[in-house]
Amino acid sequence: MIPHSRPTIDETDIQAVSGVLHSGSIAQGGAVEKFEQELAGYIGVKGGVATSSGTAALHLALLALDITGKDTVALPSYVCTAVLNAVHYVGALPLLIDVHPDTFNMDVEDLKRKLRPQVKAIIVPHSFGLAADLEEIMALGIPVIEDCAQSIGATYKNKMAGSFGNISIFSFYATKMLTTGEGGMVVSDSEEFLRKIRDLRDYDNRENYVTRYNYKMTDFQASLGFSQLKKLNHFIEIRRNIAQKYNNEFKNLCSLPASHKNDRKHIYYRYTVKLRRDVESFLKLSKEKGINCERPVFKPLHRYLNLSGFTNTDRVWEKAVSIPIYPTLTEKNMNTIVEFVKNAAL
Ligand SMILES: Cc1ncc(COP(=O)(O)O)c(C=O)c1O
Repeated sequence: MIPHSRPTIDETDIQAVSGVLHSGSIAQGGAVEKFEQELAGYIGVKGGVATSSGTAALHLALLALDITGKDTVALPSYVCTAVLNAVHYVGALPLLIDVHPDTFNMDVEDLKRKLRPQVKAIIVPHSFGLAADLEEIMALGIPVIEDCAQSIGATYKNKMAGSFGNISIFSFYATKMLTTGEGGMVVSDSEEFLRKIRDLRDYDNRENYVTRYNYKMTDFQASLGFSQLKKLNHFIEIRRNIAQKYNNEFKNLCSLPASHKNDRKHIYYRYTVKLRRDVESFLKLSKEKGINCERPVFKPLHRYLNLSGFTNTDRVWEKAVSIPIYPTLTEKNMNTIVEFVKNAAL
């Protein structure tokens, strides 16, 4: 089976982790701090706080913005449930926004239509590696959490995604652009947010009591993250080359990923196309042929919450598939995928 996604781990990654394991200090320590500094530097922001997951990072970001049960948080419907979970962790009301049918990102017009005074934060994922309409969203004047779980290295107007929002979060889950197995990070330019998030991540040795968390990353995870970060630009280059090959092969068969806006650069965390044919039978056929294609989002959030009126999200969910793309994809596997899609797409 050609997997849908796969981490890229080499000998230097293994050496980095093994160095920490040999050191005897394996919990959160110097390696975490180094990873935080390097990642914040890569994004171009003041600082970062590493966490145990992207979900934990989102939770801490919402707490830093003082979001509580009285508040509403806007987020797109076409995103994984982790984002909705974080909103529920702080007891806030989710306000689901439809997506743009081409970019699969939050539709700014729908956001503007639905905005109300109770909305105290907007979570903006850059879905599948393409930046959302940051300028228009930031202009609304509501605190923005950029969700870069799928988009580390993506750019918007020549600046890194993750350097625009009041707070931004990342995920380093096994299948992400770079991995620490499980892990995440919050970054910000605000010392105040960073201090607050750092305080809430860890519960030990404090004078006062507030509910705090154990959302720490370990040093051996951070050493893997640091080693992976050095290769991130190379990973992105390989993904872009594969996407270009797919684009050339598939251009007459389906709607290609939206990378046409020249003010932003896609990193192809996922290669997502919209088919003309039925998605369910395409996915079944792909598995029969030994290729694990998937839906880019398992199920839209409004369907979990029994809400309606998300026409674009429904349409995208009904038509979009994600085709394997990752740095370790072999030429042979790529050719097998191209042949399959050419035969099965219509
Ligand atoms: C857009 C988005 N946000 C947040 C998360 C949560 O990240 P994690 O799985 O590290 O908790 C994910 C997970 O894949 C995601 O895709």
